[in-house]
Amino acid sequence: MQLEDVKIYEYDAVIVGAGLAGLAAAKELSEAGKKVAVITKLHPLRSHSGAAQGGINAALGEDDSTELHEFDTVKGSDYLGDQDAIELMCSKAPETIRWAERMGAIFSRDDEGKIARRPFGGQSKPRACYASDRTGLTLLQTMYEQAFRAGIEVFDEWYCADVLYKDGKAKGVVAYDLRTSKPAIFNAKVTMFATGGYGRAYSINSNAHANTGDALSIFARRGLPLEDMEFVQFHPSGLGGSGILISEAARGEGGRLFNSEGERFMEKYAPNALELASRDVVSRAIMEEIRQGRGVGPNKDAVYIDLTHLPKETILTKLPELRELAITFLGQDMLKEPIMIAATAHYSMGGIPVNKRCQVRQSPTEFVEGLYAAGECSCVSVHGANRLGANSLLEAIFFGRVAGESMLKDLESIELAPADKSEAADTIAKIEKIRTNNGDERVPALRAELQHSMTMDAGVFRTEESLARQKEKLNEIYNRYQNIRIDDKSNTFNTDLQEAIELGHIIDFSLFIVDCALARKESRGAHFREDYPTRDDENFLKHTYAKFSGDYELELSYGDVVLGKFEPQERKY
Ligand code: FUM
Repeated sequence: MQLEDVKIYEYDAVIVGAGLAGLAAAKELSEAGKKVAVITKLHPLRSHSGAAQGGINAALGEDDSTELHEFDTVKGSDYLGDQDAIELMCSKAPETIRWAERMGAIFSRDDEGKIARRPFGGQSKPRACYASDRTGLTLLQTMYEQAFRAGIEVFDEWYCADVLYKDGKAKGVVAYDLRTSKPAIFNAKVTMFATGGYGRAYSINSNAHANTGDALSIFARRGLPLEDMEFVQFHPSGLGGSGILISEAARGEGGRLFNSEGERFMEKYAPNALELASRDVVSRAIMEEIRQGRGVGPNKDAVYIDLTHLPKETILTKLPELRELAITFLGQDMLKEPIMIAATAHYSMGGIPVNKRCQVRQSPTEFVEGLYAAGECSCVSVHGANRLGANSLLEAIFFGRVAGESMLKDLESIELAPADKSEAADTIAKIEKIRTNNGDERVPALRAELQHSMTMDAGVFRTEESLARQKEKLNEIYNRYQNIRIDDKSNTFNTDLQEAIELGHIIDFSLFIVDCALARKESRGAHFREDYPTRDDENFLKHTYAKFSGDYELELSYGDVVLGKFEPQERKY
């Protein structure tokens, strides 16, 4: 990769990430006649939005209301979600569904021909609108068709390696073509990141291999803060052994959880909501049963979900993909027998701090000019300490469109600040250092060590001791990472190089998860401290902000939660 090869492209807007949020934003801009580039390290249809199976929330039922949706979301967030952002998203959810339908998304229908809705955890009404168990895929295909129709330029299989950020302003990104390793600067008036989550910090996860939190590390290394990074969601039903998602739709349609003693154990943990308590509650219950020796399977590290009492037709029409996954990966047919599941790292509530217009914050009160983020990589914060299932597709589409509208408005008053090749020099030097480094540490082994230790010590259950141990481990891994060696030195689809860069990103943001978790001496939502098992509103009803203050050291600060009409109260399901 050479500095003289750097090509400079100029756009009104550059968007990194081609999942629902990125494509929704791109469509807004392109339809208004703006020149937009979308950069993605995958093909857009392989974006992780496509993996969300069970549904997208909107209060469409006659017995439902957007206010109830709001309340469930605030309660689900364990009162850490910002109520102004939650109100905005929930009030616009019905319109968002209608918009997606007008774009061509085909939803499943109920007996009256209306968009079908199913119950999901932590919700007082059935509100997850769905397309069988392929809701995210249906929406992603729809958005991709629309992007294609709008003529948006997609640079697929391009890797974004840095953001051009200086003195409170952004003007594009540095990226390289994975086919050739040729670098380029995408110079733009406005820049948006919609790069998804970072579940790949854990060994058992439901995430795509691509979910390596690249944007978080890129922003953090530019001195920008990250918000609420301690809150990582573990989905209750990952396929036993692999963690592949078995949608909450399985419980929504009536699936029941059993331990090795045949006990329907959710009766102990959430006597009213049972399997449909919020995800954090169900995940902890499952892992507690396993810890106490009541797990099933050869390693006793799973529990059963039983759907055999459901009509065959329900499984074949509403859960066909889940059935296929369990047959393929476990050899278990849910029509005939219970299947094995356990908690799996699924979603990141924290991320790049943004306001309701999706503008990136450089401090709790100041914004970066021309820089936006939406979807899972961002923290707006509509999920607080725990996201409700089926709110992520909603967030991605709704705030993706908001980001598009904000950029459209703001770029009218932003002059394109020209870029120079030399601005890619540091990025190229960093990548070349990784390519040519001649140490003796291997990337896959180091990554596996990191993922295993994060799962054991910064996972569903945490203590001061486990987190301190993990912090030490991360420091060791960070130092060993300086001494890596990759075998492939070529320029063509160098996945060895890409994985090494991505591991650097995982090492960076894992420190944020662990340090923020160490400092939060309470239990709230997905963050469960066994040494501080209760929520402490007096000291911790606040957002965490963290940024690098040294090579591998962080500085933490706190900001207010936007409260509203729902007073914090104890969460019971
Ligand atoms: O369980 C699921 O279908 C996942 C959906 C979500 O995370 O929103």
